[in-house]
Amino acid sequence: MNVKKFRRVEKTWDEFWAEYWRIRLVREDETVAWKNQQVVEFCVQMLGIRPGMRVLDLGCGAGFQALLFGERGITVHGLDISPPLVRYAKSEAKKKGLTATFSVGDMRDFKVDEPFDRVLVLGMSFGFGTEEENDATLNCLYRATKSGGKILLTGQHPYSASTHTGPEWVETEEGFLIHHGTFDPVSCRLGGMWELVRPDGTVVTEGENPESDGIRCYSAPELRRLLAHAGFTRPHFYGSWLLPPGDLQWFSTEMITIAERPGGKPRARAR
Ligand SMILES: C[S@@+](CC[C@H](N)C(=O)[O-])C[C@H]1O[C@@H](n2cnc3c(N)ncnc32)[C@H](O)[C@@H]1O
Repeated sequence: MNVKKFRRVEKTWDEFWAEYWRIRLVREDETVAWKNQQVVEFCVQMLGIRPGMRVLDLGCGAGFQALLFGERGITVHGLDISPPLVRYAKSEAKKKGLTATFSVGDMRDFKVDEPFDRVLVLGMSFGFGTEEENDATLNCLYRATKSGGKILLTGQHPYSASTHTGPEWVETEEGFLIHHGTFDPVSCRLGGMWELVRPDGTVVTEGENPESDGIRCYSAPELRRLLAHAGFTRPHFYGSWLLPPGDLQWFSTEMITIAERPGGKPRARAR
């Protein structure tokens, strides 16, 4: 019997994984395309987004959802830390003749020239930073939202985090994609590492990655407190993108949170 030889190569997020994982696999997956439609419909209805409003999409990835907002006549700007994803989003907007704009930036530390009507963090992307960085993200979000505006955040719900642990794999056109998931109950962080095992025996492992420290899974009471501290009010928590909206359940994988920046004069925020 021939024993296959495996050769490990490490590739960074920006040189390989962003394009493979967040563009190629997503673009070819009809269920993702269907979910993106649901996500955009949910945001439009639940946040009362109308054409002419300005929407900021933080951690926009390759811009699949931002472009759907653009197709509805909504003025959208997407920001992501990964240059190849922003390049792709820009080229798609140009190809489709949309006014959607994109830039490279860090949601933990950014400024906008003019606040937005609605600010979104989609794709379970709130929580990549440390505790302090996530607080800083909420403060940036507050400054980026108009008075009377609304935000929608999605995060990984902690009670379902265990469903992502252990090795899982899926066969793709390039080989087997394997995820070694871990959950640390003390820090409440879901982590893990991706590997692509190609038929020729090459194992592509993850190098530098903006998500390599995993994601902090906030519970609803924790996030309620953080949002209040940042100045947001009226938080509501949902467990699914289907409409009419479903409450957050203990088994919900994704926690969808909507909150408001109060109108009127900015108030002094609690320290
Ligand atoms: C799970 S993906 C979600 C992409 C998109 N929102 C979606 O729902 O398909 C997370 C995205 O957040 C980006 N990201 C990670 N850390 C970030 C940061 N500190 N600032 C901005 N973007 C970040 C990643 O590059 C990635 O595109």
